[in-house]
Order: sequence, then C-alpha cells, then structure tokens
Amino acid sequence: MAVDAANPVPPTYPRRAGMDQVPPHIPQELIRSVGITFSPEFLEAPHAFMADLHDKQPPLFYDVSMMGNSWQALKHADALFILRHPDIFTNEGATPFPRDPDDYYYFIPQEIDPPHHRKYRNIVDPVFSPQGVLKLEAKIRKLANDLIDSFIDNGECEFAEEYGRPLPVMVFLDIMGLPQDMRDTFVSWAMDLLHSNSREIMGETMVKITAYLKSAIADKKAHPDDGVVSLIAHAAPGGVPLSDKEVFGFVAFLFIAGLDTVFATMNNMWLYLAENPDKVAEMIADPDNINAQVEELLRVWSVTFSGRVLTQDFELRGVQLKKDDRITCILPACNFDPEVFPNPREVDFHRPRQTVLAFTVGPHSCMGAHLARLEIKIGLQEWLKRIPKFAVKPGTHTEYRPGGVVGPEAVPLVW
Ligand code: HEM
Repeated sequence: MAVDAANPVPPTYPRRAGMDQVPPHIPQELIRSVGITFSPEFLEAPHAFMADLHDKQPPLFYDVSMMGNSWQALKHADALFILRHPDIFTNEGATPFPRDPDDYYYFIPQEIDPPHHRKYRNIVDPVFSPQGVLKLEAKIRKLANDLIDSFIDNGECEFAEEYGRPLPVMVFLDIMGLPQDMRDTFVSWAMDLLHSNSREIMGETMVKITAYLKSAIADKKAHPDDGVVSLIAHAAPGGVPLSDKEVFGFVAFLFIAGLDTVFATMNNMWLYLAENPDKVAEMIADPDNINAQVEELLRVWSVTFSGRVLTQDFELRGVQLKKDDRITCILPACNFDPEVFPNPREVDFHRPRQTVLAFTVGPHSCMGAHLARLEIKIGLQEWLKRIPKFAVKPGTHTEYRPGGVVGPEAVPLVW
C-alpha cells in the first residue's frame, strides 16, 4: 500500500458505477439500487429513509448507483468493526472527490492510514483538541449573540443563511486564517463539490478550490500568521518540512471537511426543534443536561458517511467481500440501529450512553468533532435563551440537498 504522501500516486482500485459494472462475485440477491443521497424518495425525508433501511434491506447490501457502486453497511456493530480495522478497510483512495491524475495528491489525514496519519494529526491536534477549542468559547458565544441581534427583532429569519451557516463558517475561517470576505464563495464551492450529482461540476469545482488554496498557501509561506493554513505550511514533523503536496492535501481536506458539515447538522437540528416544541421545553428546563442533549441530537441528525476500500478478501455477516470492493458505513442508519438504540427514532435526552457514530470512531474519527460539538452546544444555548419559542414558517416545504452531507436547503423560522 502506498503511503508516501510526499509522492502520491492515484489508486489503482476500479471506480465502478452502474449495473453493467457489478463485479461477478456480488451475490445477485444482495444487489439493490436504493438511491441513497439523491433519489426523490431519499430527498423527501432523508433520515426517515435511512432509519427505514433497517426494515427494508439486509444489514449489508451492494448498492448500484451512477455515483459509484459500493457495499452499504447498516449495522452499528459492523461500522465499529470496519472503522476500527484500517488494515482490512483502508481509507486510501476512498474519498470520492475527483483529482487530476497528473497532479495527484492525497487528502490528508483522511486518506492516510495509521500509523502514518498520526504525524499529520499531531500538527493540528493542539488547535482542535478539547482544550484547544475551549479557548474559542467566548468568541463563539459573542458571535452567536451578534448574529441573533441582527434578526431577533424581525420575528423571523432564514435560519440556514442567518445563523446555521455563518456561525460555524466564520469560526472556521478564523481558525484557518482565511479571509471572511470570501465566505460566500467558499460556501458555494463546498456546495458544488459536496452536493452535485455531476462528476464534471465536482471536477471543475476542485480546479477552482485548488487554484485558490495554492495561492493562499504561498501567501502564508511568505507571511506566516497564527492560522491553521500557516501552521501546516510551516510544519516540519521530526525536523522534515512537509512537501508541497502534503501541505496542499492537508489544507484542501480541512477546507472540504470543515465548511459544510456543522451547518448541515445545525439546520437539521433546528428544523426538528422548530417542529417539536415539547423537546425545546425539555431542553430549557434541564440546561445541565446540554451535553447529552447535543449527543442525542447528533445521533438522530448525523449527516455523513464513511467510505472504505477492502485491502483483502474478507467475510462479513456471512457475505464474501473481495479485495478492492468499496464499502460505505451509512452512519445515520447505524445511529438508528434498533439493537443499540431501542425505539431509535425517538429523541430521548436520557438514553443510556452508547457510541454515537456522527463523527465515526477509530483512527479517522473526525478531527473537528470537539469544535463542532462546542459550536452546536453554544449555538443552542444562546438561541434558546433568547428565542425559546419558534416554529417553521407556515407554508414551508422543506427541500433537502442531494450529496454526501445531508441537510435541508433552507430553514425559515418565525417566533
Ligand atoms: C457536525 C459536523 C461534522 C461532522 C458530522 C463530521 C463528520 C466527520 C466524519 C464522519 C468523519 C470520518 C470520515 C471517514 O470515516 O471517512 C470526519 C473526518 C474528518 N473531519 Fe469531520 N465532521 C464535522 C465537522 C468537522 C469540522 C468542523 C472539521 C474541521 C475543522 C472537520 C475535519 C475533519 C477531518 C480533518 C477529518 C479526517 C480525520 C482523519 O482522517 O484522521 N470535521 N468528519
């Protein structure tokens, strides 16, 4: 397995898409085409769709799609196993974003398996550790209140545009040392990359992101600051500076991972709360339980998936998987596994603690998880203090974006 991120080579795994590219070893009875992430049925109510998979599909099935064929794992226990065994289920080449094969790079640390990926995570861990993100608490609280000030007197807001998006994106750009006035452009790139059904649009968007980030990195090399882009650009683990490809692949992945995920999560949560005032009242009545409340909302409203590639033949649930097969853990479905979370669709802030898979587990667990949890917690606390009663604007029909980060397009709220 190639792990030299300074000299990356495109993976040789086949990228299969469509019924004519189902390998012969896949048992016919396990082939499905469920339309996850893009079908009209999925987009009508994505989380209900993913919860329903437990009743409608086998725990492990082979999904055929024009976006890529892959095994799909629904069970919480299987996801834990897959995510904790990178020797069998590798991340190398598992990321769907297109790249130029002649100027290839790895997305770091996402595509680098242990033990090599530790070297990269160590560079930024101080920033994203629980202690590191706690330093941002006062700043996030102030930003939350400034945003609320800007719309509270209107008696309504478009939550996604006015709170769910600016709160985490502004914090993230500050951490990275990237300019706030590029916020809308960055967000539109993230949308095109993560929510397009077209590999062509994804490819064009990667070209734009690449050009921008290369020049931002060059700028930080010349003019260091205390942002994460600069930190990575000047990193020299063990005294050896990162190569240009390593710096770029690391910054590029952070950029992709950090922009869209928190606000998609917040949009889902606020939409749910606006429709469930009894849960809002419960939260307000029990403020000391905020951490469990956030965790339970993350369980029910997790937004993304973990893709891996088999490094060897392996039998899972009596099914023979083959080397080079792709497999995806449908994390939101795993979080609805009734064997682990009884009555899984019910939001229960007093559930016995179990591993919630919103951020995965294992070596590739989300580097931004502590930051995301803190932003969601503060976002909820400040909002509920000032806008304790709110509802979805009458007449709203909620539309979901297709793609690998699941959330509603807009969340118009009134109070
Ligand atoms: C609620 C918000 C977020 C969710 C639900 C989320 C989810 C995830 C998931 C599921 C993974 C693992 C992917 C895999 O197994 O293949 C992951 C990895 C990662 N996330 Fe997040 N993420 C969120 C926010 C963030 C933020 C804000 C950042 C950046 C500041 C970030 C940076 C990363 C990085 C760098 C990785 C790769 C870690 C590694 O491979 O070692 N994430 N995230």
